[in-house]
Amino acid sequence: MPGLWQGLGVLLSLQLALLCLASDPCYDAARRPRYCLPEPTDLAVGRLVQASSGPVANASLSLALGGRFELLYVALRFCSPRPHSLALYKSTDHGHSWMPFQFFSARCLQAYGLPPASVISKASEHEAICTSVGGRCRCNGHAARCGAARPGGAPQCQCRHNTAGPECETCRAFYCDRPWQRATPSDAHECVACECNRHSHRCRFNMELYKLSGRKSGGVCLNCRHHTAGRHCHYCQPGFKRDLARPITSRRACKACQCHPIGAVSTMCNQTTGQCQCKMGVTGLTCNRCAQGFQQSRTAHIPCIPGDELTPLYPCAPIYALPLGTECQTHCSPSHGRVHMNLRKYCKKDYVLHAQLLAMVESGEWWQFTTSVLAVYRQRQVPIRRGEQPLWVPRQDLACGCLRLQVGKAYLVIGNDAESPDPARLVLDRNSLALPWRDVWAHKLRRFQQQDRQGNCRSP
Ligand SMILES: *[C@@H]1O[C@H](CO)[C@@H](O)[C@H](O)[C@H]1NC(C)=O
Ligand SMILES: *[C@@H]1O[C@H](CO)[C@@H](O)[C@H](O)[C@H]1NC(C)=O
Repeated sequence: MPGLWQGLGVLLSLQLALLCLASDPCYDAARRPRYCLPEPTDLAVGRLVQASSGPVANASLSLALGGRFELLYVALRFCSPRPHSLALYKSTDHGHSWMPFQFFSARCLQAYGLPPASVISKASEHEAICTSVGGRCRCNGHAARCGAARPGGAPQCQCRHNTAGPECETCRAFYCDRPWQRATPSDAHECVACECNRHSHRCRFNMELYKLSGRKSGGVCLNCRHHTAGRHCHYCQPGFKRDLARPITSRRACKACQCHPIGAVSTMCNQTTGQCQCKMGVTGLTCNRCAQGFQQSRTAHIPCIPGDELTPLYPCAPIYALPLGTECQTHCSPSHGRVHMNLRKYCKKDYVLHAQLLAMVESGEWWQFTTSVLAVYRQRQVPIRRGEQPLWVPRQDLACGCLRLQVGKAYLVIGNDAESPDPARLVLDRNSLALPWRDVWAHKLRRFQQQDRQGNCRSP
């Protein structure tokens, strides 16, 4: 049987892409998505039909495809007498293998009355054949336009309904709230964006959640920002509360709880009300006051004890203002900042520094100061380097006033390693000294340093 058509393929010419319509067929007047298809076009336009050389009695013609298409018709007009029979083959691997496509009789072919021939190509020396191939891109009902990005390139659907891919066969990134589906005339099955309240640009699809929601929504937001959390970034992270004056989509929808470091049990509060969890006898949204019938105690563990005063709980400087009481008195003797510096004191300690405190943050039972070490006058076993580094102070040592430290100020820091839980860290505790720095000390300390080098510390 003569195999007249060995392959079908079509490269869309650029003109087709320009057949743009003013309105978008993929949406109705109310902007609702609807099933749409690219217009059928003559796929032979601008393409050369390759003709086999050989006897005219058994000729084959092939047309190179640039992609997959829905073929609607193939029309041929013969200048010579019509062939006895005709076979149509298709290839999806650039002509390596061919599969029967459909068989036509010549009469059948004539019945497909397409206006003949946009392209006339010489099939042989003896005859000319006019061809027309009607078809359209396969876009799964999600595109009304299709074109090659460049002449000769593969056709690409211009995907709508938030779909993507050469044939609109997937959902666009972030539009994965439900699975991709082919559009049908009754339902456009558009891809739906994840609901992340503007706090995330990334999400993934979760089939379990989708099923649980009655096949409505399966998107899970990733990397919620602005202190939000949850599947839709719809509530606040622990330690933050909703600012109800702002919509959840606001960048400032969540704000810090600001629970009182002494009055509250933790840094976390009720997301909606902002109420911190207070220690017994403590009240207030941030746990900053003693409740009625309680009065301020002298310990940080139980800041309010039964009594009849209504006292603010160290409202200004919570870490210094804890009054000295029995608990603190046994903990340390408070620093008065008056120390007479002599060689004996210098030699007794493991290290002596000139350091400035730059910032402080709470970290569990510790305060972490960002410290700039300006000079090291006596070096300990694990050397302290100059420059910025963390310095740790137990919370209670500050609360009891064993050390009086203020961010922004410079200190003469004198310490021992013995009590430090980690010799590599810089730790100040109740056994250390931190004295507001005085420039006159620099000279004196350099003298001690010399005497230390001469071995005077070892033989007092
Ligand atoms: C015509 O070509 C086809 C395919 O190349 C081949 O299978 C067939 O035998 C040929 N027929 C004749 C009469 O040459
Ligand atoms: C937060 O407070 C509201 C109102 O008092 C309450 O209904 C809710 O249970 C609280 N949430 C938590 C996690 O405690």
